[in-house]
Parts: sequence; C-alpha cells; structure tokens
Amino acid sequence: MSAGKFIVIEGIEGAGKSSAIAVIEQYLQQQNISFDKTREPGGTPLAEKLRTLVKEPCDEQITPECELFLMYASRSQLLHNKILPTLASGKWVIGDRHDLSSRAYQGGGREFNNDVIDSIANITLNGFKPHLTLYLDIEPELGLGRAQARGELDRIEQEKIEFFHKVRNKYLELANQDETIFIIDASQPMDKVHQDIRAVLGEQIGASDQ
Ligand SMILES: Nc1ncnc2c1ncn2[C@@H]1O[C@H](COP(=O)(O)OP(=O)(O)OP(=O)(O)O)[C@@H](O)[C@H]1O
Ligand SMILES: [Mg+2]
Repeated sequence: MSAGKFIVIEGIEGAGKSSAIAVIEQYLQQQNISFDKTREPGGTPLAEKLRTLVKEPCDEQITPECELFLMYASRSQLLHNKILPTLASGKWVIGDRHDLSSRAYQGGGREFNNDVIDSIANITLNGFKPHLTLYLDIEPELGLGRAQARGELDRIEQEKIEFFHKVRNKYLELANQDETIFIIDASQPMDKVHQDIRAVLGEQIGASDQ
C-alpha cells in the first residue's frame, strides 16, 4: 500500500477554509481516495486542549513566546499521533491549517524571525512537509468581515487589522517561494473559488502516481 498524501488549506479567518475543505473532500471521494481530516491547532485530545488554551480570550496576557510554543506543542502531538500514522496506513489527510500558519501568524504577525521559527519547526517536524498546500488569499477587511458575521471572535481574531495585514503579507511571501503552495484568490464568489481549487487538485493529484 502506498503512503497517503497530506493536503493543507491555509488562509486568514473568514478566507473560506472550511468551505474549501468540503470541496477537497468531495474531490477525493470522487477519486476513491480515503482520507481523514485534521485541524490546527488541535486534532488530537491533548492538542484540542492546547487549542482551547491558545484561542480562548484570557485575562492574563499570553506572551508571544507562550503562543508560539503552544502552537508547536499542539503540532507535535498531531503529527506523531495522527498525521503520520494515518499517512502510513495509506489514507490521505486534509489539514485545516499547518506549519505555514505559524510562519504567517507567529512569524509575520508576531514578528518572530525566520531562524527562531525554523529551529522550532525543525525540532517539531524534522523535515516533514505537506505534499500540497492551497493558500486562500483575501484582504483582511473582507475575511474578518465574513468571520464576524458568523459570531464571536476568539483571542487571535480580536487582533487589530494591522496584525492580519502582516499575516497576509507573510503568507504571500512564503507562498511565492514554495512550488507546493498554490495561491487561490478567495475574494471571488464562492463558485469561482471552488472551481479554482478543483483545477489545482486536478493538476496536482491527476499528475501524481495515484
Ligand atoms: N467566496 C466566498 N464569498 C462569500 N462568502 C464566503 C466565501 N467563502 C466563504 N464565505 C463565507 O464566509 C464565512 C467564513 O467562511 P469559512 O468559515 O469557510 O472561513 P474559514 O477560513 O474556515 O474561517 P476560520 O479561520 O474562522 O475557520 C462563511 O459564512 C462562508 O459561508
Ligand atoms: Mg474554518
């Protein structure tokens, strides 16, 4: 049995990740590829507890370092207890966020430099990388507007708009340097966004050995 592949969807809040994941699910089902889904931070019982700690509004100031370590602590649990065993079983994994989020939020947003993040990422991931990442690019004003319409904002969603501009700029910078990351214009009507996602999947999965 060949190992599965890890497909990740990325983007700021309200970019449309959850709806995009439904499109990927449908695509894989049509190809008779079995898969599991994960989300980050979270995706295992302990990682979900860490997600709550990092996302819920807190009276005590959470330091940027604490936030960074909680994200990678969660990712380590998810990688070893969920992603790697699932891929080894031959199933694919669809990830709602992965390492690129830390690079964009903690690197771009909180301004940790690349060397710091690289060294923590190396310890945590040991070179592991998604096979394919779809980055849904959207202006923060538009994305956050969509997220706000949906309900209460979590601790990170309550950041100022400048924070999300720094996050977006870092996403774009990194996506442009990596040929496994595809940028989708998420400001388009949903039908068009989903059509663009299916086109990338068709090219990338169609061209694979599956
Ligand atoms: N292309 C689009 N045009 C208009 N509305 C959209 C589009 N894509 C998603 N939406 C709507 O915007 C809202 C946010 O989308 P969604 O929940 O998929 O975003 P998300 O990226 O998963 O956000 P989060 O990071 O908060 O999980 C939803 O109500 C969704 O229906
Ligand atoms: Mg979502």
